Amino acid sequence: MRVIRDNVYSVGALDFDRRIFDKLIPTPDGTTYNSYLIAGSEKTALLDTVDPTKSDTLFRNIAKTGVSKIDYIVCHHAEQDHSGCINEALLLFPDAKVVTNSKCKEILMQHLETDDEQFIIVEDGQELSLGDKTLKFIYIPWSHWPETLASYLPQEKMLFPCDLFGSHFATSSLFADDYCTLYESAKRYYAEIMMPFHGQIKKNIEKLSQYEIKIIAPSHGPLYDKPEMIIDAYKDWVSDNVKNEVVIAYVSMHESTRIMVDYFVDALIERGVNVWQFNLADTDLGKLAMSLVDAATIVIGTGTVLTGPHPKAAYACILANALRPKTRFASIIGSYGWGGKMPEQIQQLLGNLKVEFIEPVISRGVPKEEEYKKLDALAEAILAKHRQIGII
Ligand code: FEO
Repeated sequence: MRVIRDNVYSVGALDFDRRIFDKLIPTPDGTTYNSYLIAGSEKTALLDTVDPTKSDTLFRNIAKTGVSKIDYIVCHHAEQDHSGCINEALLLFPDAKVVTNSKCKEILMQHLETDDEQFIIVEDGQELSLGDKTLKFIYIPWSHWPETLASYLPQEKMLFPCDLFGSHFATSSLFADDYCTLYESAKRYYAEIMMPFHGQIKKNIEKLSQYEIKIIAPSHGPLYDKPEMIIDAYKDWVSDNVKNEVVIAYVSMHESTRIMVDYFVDALIERGVNVWQFNLADTDLGKLAMSLVDAATIVIGTGTVLTGPHPKAAYACILANALRPKTRFASIIGSYGWGGKMPEQIQQLLGNLKVEFIEPVISRGVPKEEEYKKLDALAEAILAKHRQIGII
């Protein structure tokens, strides 16, 4: 338990050991499940709970504050890493009400089977008095799920935006201090959680700009007492700007595709185009996602397996397609032994991306002089596209 401000406590849990989230997202720096307790002169509110695996920590921390009665459990987001201990909290504090919006209530009733009688529904902009403190609720939909809600505590100018501005970063520092490390962690988190909704996130950031914010207290990672660092980073990530970068995600079985990738990477670098190269055989998909936040172009490299892309390349395409980066251009390089429709299948798998496809380069077996010329031409075409949109 840590005191953030008078009668405002951090009661959540650190999870240094967590290495994967949703059985999908690598979390090399662990994570935190932040929960906050605000004791007003009349009422006390608990803002979110923690992942059920850390419920003991949450309730031990609440006890350490000396608070013995909770009137409101504010649920900003129904995902279980924040809502998963609500039922246990209601058993310990049976008079408490769950304060949330109607969409979140609907999801909670499905996931947790929370009793209908226990809810107080709040509208966008509505306030809840705790006596000498007030919570104002701000709808920030799709700041991960459609129901996501933030709270603002005007007396301390604190914003509680749940997943928004979060990071999977376990640290004993209450406030962000190592900005270099945290920037990477926050960007990785943005790429995996927020990027699919970047248009809505942009609107939410504009909506929040009307509030004077001195502290951002997200639901994952450290708090920000210099909020401009994370707000400015988000403004950059959600902008329409892309960088002079090509992400090459590839997998090669018999070296032909790898030889093509190596040649192609050199061809791009020699033309002044920056490259992120990922071997899908053993890459960190979080790093791949992070690189897609800014890159102007994505190139998938793969051999052909039973007429289609290698399953690891297909998986990367499905992930990129779900994350919907603002990438402008795409292409494919690769090889085949006897036939197939690999390029067509990759284009279909990337169907959500608003990209212009540039002519693929596909080699039968090992690349030969003709394919090297085509790889040079592809590098030249990407350079021209990047010049055309003014990023080089
Ligand atoms: Fe941290 Fe969307 O839950």
